Amino acid sequence: MKKLFLLLAVAILTTVVCHSEQFVNLTPAPANMTVGTGVFRIPAGMKITAQGLTPEMQSEVTKFISDFNKSTGLGIGEGKNGRMTVRLNKEIATEGYNLDVTAKGIVLEASSPAGLFYGLQTIKKILPANVMAGTNYPRQKSYELPVVSIQDRPAYGYRGFMLDVSRHFFTADEIKRMLDVMSYYKLNRFHWHLTDDQGWRLPMDKYPLLTTVGATAPDVVITDYRAKKQYKAGKPYGPYSYTKEEIKDIVDYAKKLHIEVVPEVDMPGHFVAAMVAYPELSCDPKADRKVWDHGGVSRDVLNVANPAAVKLGEDVIDQLAELFPYPYIHIGGDECPTVAWENNADCRALMEKEGMKNPRQLQNRFIKQMADRAAKHGKKLYVWNEALTEEGADSAMLKNIDATVFCWVGVPQAVKKATSNGLGAIFTPIGPYYINRRQSRDAAPGAGPGNDDVKRTYTTVPFTTAVGSKDNCLGVQGTFWTEHVSDPDYMEYLALPRLIAIAEAGWTPQEKKDFADFQKRMTADAQLLDLGGYKYTRLYMLQPVGSSTGPDSPGRE
Ligand code: ACM
Repeated sequence: MKKLFLLLAVAILTTVVCHSEQFVNLTPAPANMTVGTGVFRIPAGMKITAQGLTPEMQSEVTKFISDFNKSTGLGIGEGKNGRMTVRLNKEIATEGYNLDVTAKGIVLEASSPAGLFYGLQTIKKILPANVMAGTNYPRQKSYELPVVSIQDRPAYGYRGFMLDVSRHFFTADEIKRMLDVMSYYKLNRFHWHLTDDQGWRLPMDKYPLLTTVGATAPDVVITDYRAKKQYKAGKPYGPYSYTKEEIKDIVDYAKKLHIEVVPEVDMPGHFVAAMVAYPELSCDPKADRKVWDHGGVSRDVLNVANPAAVKLGEDVIDQLAELFPYPYIHIGGDECPTVAWENNADCRALMEKEGMKNPRQLQNRFIKQMADRAAKHGKKLYVWNEALTEEGADSAMLKNIDATVFCWVGVPQAVKKATSNGLGAIFTPIGPYYINRRQSRDAAPGAGPGNDDVKRTYTTVPFTTAVGSKDNCLGVQGTFWTEHVSDPDYMEYLALPRLIAIAEAGWTPQEKKDFADFQKRMTADAQLLDLGGYKYTRLYMLQPVGSSTGPDSPGRE
């Protein structure tokens, strides 16, 4: 009798254990996923059979095989009757894919190279972490995928990360590390903030002083995030800028990861560095100006009534069009006080001549001029929301040029105004989506009050105030300003994993999001981030794992 009872107990326990779902470590969480029991172990020498793929899709498979073999040594390759099939399925959304893993093998379907890439990224992501990290890890002996059926596609087409390289400069290699981590989590836009009051980083053949005089600050703020100290370097910073070859290299590198690069040259505000190089383009050429070594909003802005200043803007558009092969150019347009225009005779005369009632109309005129130039290259403009939301801004003109609005300040109203005018909107609110901000109260000196933590970022719901068509809600972006962030370790440490939380907002349907589940997945991803040598905060973790050298082991902050 006792024995029978024991057998019964074991049987019940086995059933319970077998029915508890196995953990599939996939971020962003997929649109649809059914988890089965058991695994498929990838055999050495496994063959992959491609069916109906376009040449571009075929090269995704070739790259996957080469990457997979480098990190696992399993020697897989293409061939007939393979245990893995990769197939064209035209029914699937662009960027979407279907993945079926059974105990017998793998079937992956997509309709586009991007969709196939994301399907292959999912396979890498749910295998042991060294596969996604691209590192050989001899201790990992077998490579098993959980039995699972996934039908996936992103919630939004724009899933971005912005990096400010003006306030502090970041090298091409430092940017590539961020592109890599973006690709782990299916982000697809790198917004490169190339110029600001503190430094000009874009090469311009016709204006050589931009990347010498305009790319050197007299001093710079350094933050030692581990020691929680901030100080002035006490020496010039720069000249720092990219060469055209470096820019092309970044664009190519990103392209392979299905990331489009969105260049930004912020005009006509945030333009001090350029006007130190070319003071004649300012509203007060005789002013004593220096490249800024501090943050803030300058009232010293481009003289948009000067044809030579407009010409510089057009030359910028031409230069960006040459270097960046994508349909959009970001011209900033944020934080542009009009007082310098009000005090300038040329600007006042132009207002009078054009019958302008509000100095903001000078900015509207400038935006239209830049849009016309961009249109010559078949491109359109991205702008920050002030271009739409400041008093006197011209929503009809923005609609006419089909601008897209990056909503960061007064976001509920900005999103509402953009979408009600039929303009595309990107959601990147200061606070939870400004991922350079301090995420705890006693963190290193930096921006924000210290409450923009991972949970706040994760639980922020995009586009709650949008009106009209959902088609205008184009996507989300993690935005990273670098006034306080002087080195790549600190940048990564602040960005991760908040950027990953935003990646999930960009990909996963809102109703499928779950912070506790995200925490569990991020805790597991410490291994992936460690293998990549990334710095990241562990404040979100369920238990202290991982080896980031950040000063924030749980319990300390
Ligand atoms: C911004 O934060 N000034 C776009």
